[in-house]
Amino acid sequence: MVSIFSTDIGGIPIIGLGTWDLRGRTCARMVEQALRLGYGHIDTAEMYNNEREVGEGLRACGLGRAEFFITTKVWPSHFAARDLERAAKESLSRLRLSEVDLLLLHWPNPQIPLRETLGALCKVKRMGLARSIGVSNFTVALLDEAVAIADEPLVCNQIEMHPFLDQSKVVAACRRHRTAVVAYSPIARGGAAGNALLTRIGKAHGKTAAQVSLRFLVQQGIAVIPRTSRRERLAENFAIFDFELSQQEMAQIASLADRGGHVVDFAFSGSPKWD
Ligand SMILES: NC(=O)c1ccc[n+]([C@@H]2O[C@H](COP(=O)([O-])OP(=O)(O)OC[C@H]3O[C@@H](n4cnc5c(N)ncnc54)[C@H](OP(=O)(O)O)[C@@H]3O)[C@@H](O)[C@H]2O)c1
Repeated sequence: MVSIFSTDIGGIPIIGLGTWDLRGRTCARMVEQALRLGYGHIDTAEMYNNEREVGEGLRACGLGRAEFFITTKVWPSHFAARDLERAAKESLSRLRLSEVDLLLLHWPNPQIPLRETLGALCKVKRMGLARSIGVSNFTVALLDEAVAIADEPLVCNQIEMHPFLDQSKVVAACRRHRTAVVAYSPIARGGAAGNALLTRIGKAHGKTAAQVSLRFLVQQGIAVIPRTSRRERLAENFAIFDFELSQQEMAQIASLADRGGHVVDFAFSGSPKWD
C-alpha cells in the first residue's frame, strides 16, 4: 500500500492541494480544510497571486510548522540571479513564513542562462529560505542539464501528468536522477471524471473516476496536487488510500495515454517542447 505521508524523496507528501485559480476566502478556506483533512502539502506560486490567502489558510489550520509542506514557484521573468532572490523573499513575506519546504523554477526560461538561475536557486536554499529546491515543466534534456549544473539536489520536477498523457520518458529521467515527480492537473482539469474506462474501474472498487485517476498516479510513487474549490471534493480526492488497482487495471489505464494528451496548453515564451 502507498504511504499517505510522503514520497521517498525530499519529504514531499504524496497528496497535496493545488491552488491555481483559487482566490480570496475560498482559497484560504480550502487550504485550511485540506490541511485539517490530512493533505500534507499545499502548492502555490508567485504567479497564482494567492500566496497571502494560502498563508491565511496555513495559519488558520492550527498545525505546527513541521506538520505541513508548502511549495511555491518563481516565475521565469524573475530568473536573473538578483531577481530570483528578491522573488523568493517576496513570496515568503506574502506567505508570512521564514522558509518554504520546496521552491521551484515554474517554467524553463531560455532567455536567461540556466547556470545563473540555478546558482541563484541553490544560494537561496543555502540562505535558509527554502528547505529543498526543484524545477517544473523541465524536459528530459533540460533536467539532465540542470542536475549536472546544480550543486544542491533538485528534489522535484513538477509536470503535467494524468492518465491521458504519456510522460514515461521524463518520469524515467526523474527516477535516474532521484528527482521526485509531482503531477499537476492529475485529474486532467476535471476531464478524468467523465471517462468511461475510469468510471467502470472505479465502480468495481466503489470509487469515482477522479479517484481512480489519482490512485493510478500515487500507486506509481508519483505525488499528486489536485485542485478543487469544493469541500466535498477535498474529501473525495483524499480517499484514495483504501483500495488498490490491479496490474491489469493499471495497464488498461496506461493505454489511455497519448504523447499529445496535454490539457495545459500554456508554455512560457520560448520553452522547449516536450520530447
Ligand atoms: N507547475 C505548473 O506549471 C502547473 C500548471 C498547472 C497546474 N499546476 C498546479 O497543479 C494544480 C492542479 O492542477 P489543475 O488545477 O490544472 O487541474 P486538476 O487538479 O487536474 O483539476 C482541477 C479541476 O477539476 C475539478 N475537480 C476537482 N476534483 C474533482 C473531482 N473529484 N471530480 C470532478 N472534478 C473535480 C475542479 O473543479 P471544482 O473546483 O469545481 O471542484 C477543477 O475544475 C494547480 O491547482 C496548481 O497548483 C501547476
